[in-house]
Amino acid sequence: MKYRSGKELRELFLSFFESRGHRRFPSFSLVPDDPTILFTIAGMVPFKPYFLGQKKPEMSRAVTSQKCVRTNDIDNVGRTARHHTFFEMLGNFSFGDYFKAGAAPFAWEFLTEVIGLDPDRLYPTIYKDDDEAFEIWNKTVGVPENRIYRLGEEDNFWSVGPVGPCGPCSELIYDQGPAFSCGRPDCDVGCDCDRYLEIWNLVFMQFNRYEDGTMEPLPKKNIDTGMGLERLASVVQQVEGVFGTDLFRPLIDRAAASLGIRYGATSEGDMALRVISDHFRAVAFMIADGVLPSNEGRGYVLRRILRRAVRYGRMTGIDRPFLSDLMPTLNEIMADPYRELVENESLILQVVEQEERRFGRTLEQGTSLLEAEIDSLRRKKAETLDGGLAFELYDTYGFPFELTEEICREAGISVDREGFEKAMERQRERARTAGKRHEGASDKSLYEKILEETGSSDFVGYTEEETETAVVALISDGARTRYLDEGTEGEAILVKTPFYAEKGGQVGDIGKITWEGGEALVTDTWPGTEDLPVHRVKVLSGRLETGAGVRAVVDGRRRRRIKAHHTATHLLHEALIRVLGDHVRQAGSLVTPDFLRFDFTHVKPLSPEEIEAVEGIIFETVTDNIPLQVFFTDMNEAKKLGAKALFDEKYGAVVRVIKIPGYSVELCGGTHVDATGDIGLVKIVKEEGIGSGLRRITAFAHAAAFSLFQEQTSLVTRLAEKMGAGETEIEEKLQSLLEERKALKTENERLALGAALAKADELLEEAVEVGGVHVVTGVFEKTPQEVLRQAGDHIRQRKSPVVSCLASVSGNEVTFTVMADERAREAGVHAGMLAREAARMLGGGGGGRPDIASAGAKNAEGLEEALRRIPEIVSEQIRR
Ligand code: SER
Repeated sequence: MKYRSGKELRELFLSFFESRGHRRFPSFSLVPDDPTILFTIAGMVPFKPYFLGQKKPEMSRAVTSQKCVRTNDIDNVGRTARHHTFFEMLGNFSFGDYFKAGAAPFAWEFLTEVIGLDPDRLYPTIYKDDDEAFEIWNKTVGVPENRIYRLGEEDNFWSVGPVGPCGPCSELIYDQGPAFSCGRPDCDVGCDCDRYLEIWNLVFMQFNRYEDGTMEPLPKKNIDTGMGLERLASVVQQVEGVFGTDLFRPLIDRAAASLGIRYGATSEGDMALRVISDHFRAVAFMIADGVLPSNEGRGYVLRRILRRAVRYGRMTGIDRPFLSDLMPTLNEIMADPYRELVENESLILQVVEQEERRFGRTLEQGTSLLEAEIDSLRRKKAETLDGGLAFELYDTYGFPFELTEEICREAGISVDREGFEKAMERQRERARTAGKRHEGASDKSLYEKILEETGSSDFVGYTEEETETAVVALISDGARTRYLDEGTEGEAILVKTPFYAEKGGQVGDIGKITWEGGEALVTDTWPGTEDLPVHRVKVLSGRLETGAGVRAVVDGRRRRRIKAHHTATHLLHEALIRVLGDHVRQAGSLVTPDFLRFDFTHVKPLSPEEIEAVEGIIFETVTDNIPLQVFFTDMNEAKKLGAKALFDEKYGAVVRVIKIPGYSVELCGGTHVDATGDIGLVKIVKEEGIGSGLRRITAFAHAAAFSLFQEQTSLVTRLAEKMGAGETEIEEKLQSLLEERKALKTENERLALGAALAKADELLEEAVEVGGVHVVTGVFEKTPQEVLRQAGDHIRQRKSPVVSCLASVSGNEVTFTVMADERAREAGVHAGMLAREAARMLGGGGGGRPDIASAGAKNAEGLEEALRRIPEIVSEQIRR
C-alpha cells in the first residue's frame, strides 16, 4: 500500500466521488443550523433537511470532508489510540438517488483499488436481518459469505440522536492484525479493541424516528456514509493509532517541546500529549467557528475541553500558558483547506491564553482542595464526593463538573451529581431572584400582543405625579382578564401614566390607582415592552375593570427621594471625572429611594482624600442650588453639547438631555429634581472593587443621608455614654482601653507560659523511652501555640533525644504542637508526620517540618487515646 498524507487522502476521497457524480462541498461549520444538537457530529448533519424531505436538494449526490466534534467519550481521549474530540468525516451522500447497491461497491472500490487496502483484511458487517445488504456484499462485490458479519442494533443501526433520520447500516472493518488484539479468546469482528477497526460506516437512511420512538419511512431512501479521515490515515500510514498520523504527530511533537518531555517516554506524559494535541485542535476549530468559552451550551463544552488540556499540561509540570505554542503547527497541517484558522488566529490565541491564565490561577488550589478531600474520603472508606464540594470547585475554582469527576474516577471515587445539580439550581435561583425585580411579570409576548392591539401608553410622569386616565388592559396570572376583583393581584396597563417604569437603573414607581368605588395599590412599574409601562396592582376595594376611568397617583414622597438619588448620580459621575480623570466611565447604576449605586471604570481603590474631594464637589454643587435644564434634542446636538452617554446604550434619534448648567450634561430618561438644592445631602458610604478595572460606589442622598447622619450621631452619643467619656474624647478613651487590653494580654501570656513550663517539667518526669528516644506527651487547656512551642523548647533543653507532642484543648478543638530535637530526628523521628497522624486519629489534619509541626482536629473526645498511641507511632518511625 502506498503511503499517503492526510491531505492526499482527503483529496483522493473527494475527487473519487466527484468523478462519480457527487457535488463537492467544503466542510460546513462546526456549529450546526440545528437546535437539537450542539455541534456537527457527522457529515450528514448539514444535509438533514434533505434526508427528511423538508428541503429539496439541488443535487442528488454530495461529498464532503466534514469537521466534526464529539465529546461523549472525552474521558477516553488520550487514553486510547483512536479516541478524539475533533475529527474529519469523509462522507458521500445520496438523496433519493442510489441506495445500498450503489453505496457498497463505491466503498469497496475506493478502499481496495484507490487506497490499496488488502481485501482479505476487510470485513463488512450488516444489520442482523438485512438480507439485501448481504446479497450485495456477497454477490455484487464478491465478499465470501463467512466474511460478512451480522450484528445487532447497537453496531448496525445508526441515528443522529434519539429523534431524526436513521436506518440500518453496514460497516467496513479493517483487521489490523493479531498484534493489535486485546487477546481475549472471543476477539473477533465486532470486538471493541484496536484489532478490528471500524473505518467506514454506510448508513441506509430510510426512517425518521419520532419522540415516542415510532419510526416512519422517509419519503425517499438515502445514503449517508462516514469514514474518519484520521483513522483511515492511521491504517494507510501504518502507524499506531490516529496520533501517529501526519495529521497529529507534528502537534504532539510541538507540545512535547513546550512541555520539555518526549513522546514515548512515560505513559502519563504520552497521555498528556495526546490530550493536549487533540484538545487544542478542537478548541482552535471551535473558536474559528465562533464558539467562545462560557458556562453553558457550546461555550461550556469548549471550556471543558480547554481546561482538561490545561490540567494535563500542569500535570507534566508546566506552569505557563502553553497551548498557543501549537498554533503554527496546526496551521501547517490544517490551514489548507481550513482558512478560518488563519483568519481567526489572533482571536484563537487570545481566547486560549486568557482561559489558560484564568484557570491556571485556580487550578492548583482547586486540585489540592480536591486531593485533600479524596484523601479524607479514602480514610473514611467513603466512595462518593459531596456534590456541594464539586459545585464549589466549579464555582470558585472553575473546575468543570466532568473534570472533578475524572479526577475522582482516577481515585476510584464517584461524585454526587444530583447534589451538584441541586447546588447549581440554588445558585441559579439566587441569580434569578437577584435579576428579577418584577415579581409577577408576564411573558413579553403577551405585552407585545397588547401593545399591538392597544398601542403604546404615554408616560406623563416627567411633569405630573397624578393624572386622570383609563384602564386599557388587565392581566391575571399571565392571561388577559376583563377585571380584577377586590383582594386580587394582577397587572394593569393604562392609556397614559405618571408611573415611571424601571429603566436606566432607576427603579419603578409605586402608588395608587383610584376610581369610583374602589382603590388599588401599585407596588411596582416596569416596561412590558419599551412603550408599554406595566403596573403591578393589588385591588384593595371594589373591582378594577378594563375600560374604567381611573386616577393614577404616584407616591410623591418616594418619587422625590428617587429623583434626588438620580440627580445625585449625575453629580457623582462628574465629580469622579474631575477628581480621578477622564478615564472614568459609567459602567452601571442603580437609583432607588434609599441609596444609589454607581459602577465605573477605574483601576485602584479611592483614597480617603479622593472620596472627600468627590463629596466636597457634590456638596458645593448642591448648595449652589442650580436649576436643571431638561430638554429633547437630536444626537448630533447632544454630542456638540459634550453630553455623556453610556457607551453601549442605544439612543433614538431624539434624545433627552439633563443639563446642570456650569456642571454637567448627560443623556438620560430618568426623573430629576428641579434644582440641585433639592438633593439635600450626599454621602458616600461604600467604595469597593467589583472586577478588573471596575469600582462601585454606594451613596446616600436626601432623606437617606439625613437618617444616616441621625443614626451615626446617636451612635456616637451612646458610645460616649457607655465609655463614660465626652463625645470628643471617645477616640482617646478607646485608645487607652486597647492599650490596657494589650497589657493584660501580655501579662496573661506570661502567667500561662510560667504555668506551661511548670507543667512541661512535670511531663518530663513522666516521659517514656522508645528505642532510646524520650517521648513527652501532655494536654493543656486553651494554651496558645506560641506558649506550647516554648514549652517544647524547654523540654528540648532538658532531655535528648526527645520528641514532644503537646495538645491544647479548647472546647472540642485540639491543636497539636510537635517538636523533635536533632538526635531524635537522626533516630528517625519526623515531627510533621507525627503531628499529622495524631490529628488524623481525631479526624483532622496538618503537618509540617521534621523538627517542628502543628496539626488540628475538631474532635477532642479521642485525645487521651491518641496521646497514648504516640510512643507507638514514634517507635514505628524509628524502626523504618
Ligand atoms: N452518520 C454516520 C456516522 O456518523 C455515517 O456518516 O457514523
